[in-house]
This record gives sequence, structure tokens and C-alpha cells, in this order.
Amino acid sequence: MAKPLLAGNWKMHGTAKSAAELASQLAGYAGEKPEIMVFPSFVSIPAVVNALSEHKDIAIGAQNVSHYSEGAYTGEISGKMLTGIGCSHVLVGHSERRTNNAEGNTLVAEKFAAAQQSGLIPILCVGETLQQRQDSLQLQVIKAQITAVIEKVGLQNVCNAIIAYEPVWAVGTGETATPEQAQQVHGFIRAELGEHGKDTQLLYGGSINADNAASLFSQPDIDGGLVGGASLEAEHFMNIAQQLIERK
Ligand code: 13P
Repeated sequence: MAKPLLAGNWKMHGTAKSAAELASQLAGYAGEKPEIMVFPSFVSIPAVVNALSEHKDIAIGAQNVSHYSEGAYTGEISGKMLTGIGCSHVLVGHSERRTNNAEGNTLVAEKFAAAQQSGLIPILCVGETLQQRQDSLQLQVIKAQITAVIEKVGLQNVCNAIIAYEPVWAVGTGETATPEQAQQVHGFIRAELGEHGKDTQLLYGGSINADNAASLFSQPDIDGGLVGGASLEAEHFMNIAQQLIERK
């Protein structure tokens, strides 16, 4: 079974100062924890790296990365820049970027490849829209999203990364996938990855909170969570982390 992992996507919230405070609060929790990872905004990353300098058990990632490695790309941030300031991970293909920034499967695959080439571990986010689910297209959509990356980097490289299933209709809406709905997709992804995907961490994301976490984490192919809103408060996030450790 893959190692339990809880990741917090802080999106465009707070400031460098509040991000560092939140990181310090997380670091202050003693006791057994799952693998923990936080994704502050770009500009807050140095402050969070500083706040966690004595706490290497919390990994730091970025929310986006350029598909270019270097060059005249105003406003872009390369993978090498991110590893250079202490990031080990990066989100690629988050639904908010697919929707708001028109990132399609091809670009997401290029970002995934660029991330791995610069030594970052990508978390590939996949998920269907409400309309696609109503049309029972979720597995087809997920398959296309993952296949585009496999075609670019190969199956083994996808298995070496982390995959987050985040149904678009559950992100930031307060509506969570049922454990059965989530497990259906996670089981499908696991099967798609085949033999080499047995230890690939598959996260669920979309309105996870302290009340629904345990039932999601009880599913056999859900190895943890990618948490948005509930990751902005240390106590809430660590409550979810505790439920992951204690999952049945
Ligand atoms: P919420 O937990 O706020 O729904 O956000 C999920 C998410 O987008 C994590 O990447």
C-alpha cells in the first residue's frame, strides 16, 4: 500500500507572513504524522522554507511551474528556480489552472515533464466536471488526462509521481465525492498504472474536511488528500492528518 500523504494547497490566500505563521504552527505538532506537504503561493515559499528550516519532515511545493526550462518568458517560473529555493514538489494540472488559465492536457504533460527534468516531484491533478459526471464520462476524462502525460514521459515516470483525483464539482464547493465515487476513480487510476503503480500515492481532493476525511481515507486506493480550504487552519489540517494516520 502506498504511504499516507496529506498535502495542503494554500492557493492565493494570505501573505508571506501569514504563510510562515501557518507553517510554524504545523511544525509545532508533535506525534505521529503522515507525510505532510504544503503548497504556498510562489512569493510565500521563501518565508515558509525559512519557517520550516528545522522541520524537514514537512515538504514544500509550488502550485505551478513553467513548461519551459529557461528563457525570455516574462512572468514564468522554472522548475530550476523552484528547486533552487527549496521546493521538492509541484502541482500540475490543477482544475483551477485548467479552467482559468486554459491549461489543456498537452500543456499539463509538458509541465509534468519539465518538473521531473528539474528534479521536482509533480502532483498530477485530474478530475471531471459536473457535466462530464452527469454524462458518466468521468473515467474517460481521467483516462485522457493521464494518457496525455504517459505519452509524453512514459508510464514509469507517471508512476514515480503523485496523482490527485479532484473532481471539479467538488473543489471549493463544499460538495465532496462520496467515498464510493472517489474509490471508483482511484481504483480505475490504480489499474491504469498497472504493476508499477502499486506504491504510487493517489490523493483525493475536493472539499475534504474533518467530518468527511475518515470515510474517504478508509477506501483501499485513497492514500491521502490534497486539501484546499481546510488546510488554511493548522488545527483543522492536523485533525485531518490524524484521521489519515488512524484510518481503518
Ligand atoms: P477545497 O478543499 O477547498 O475544495 O480545494 C481542493 C483543492 O483544490 C486542492 O487542490
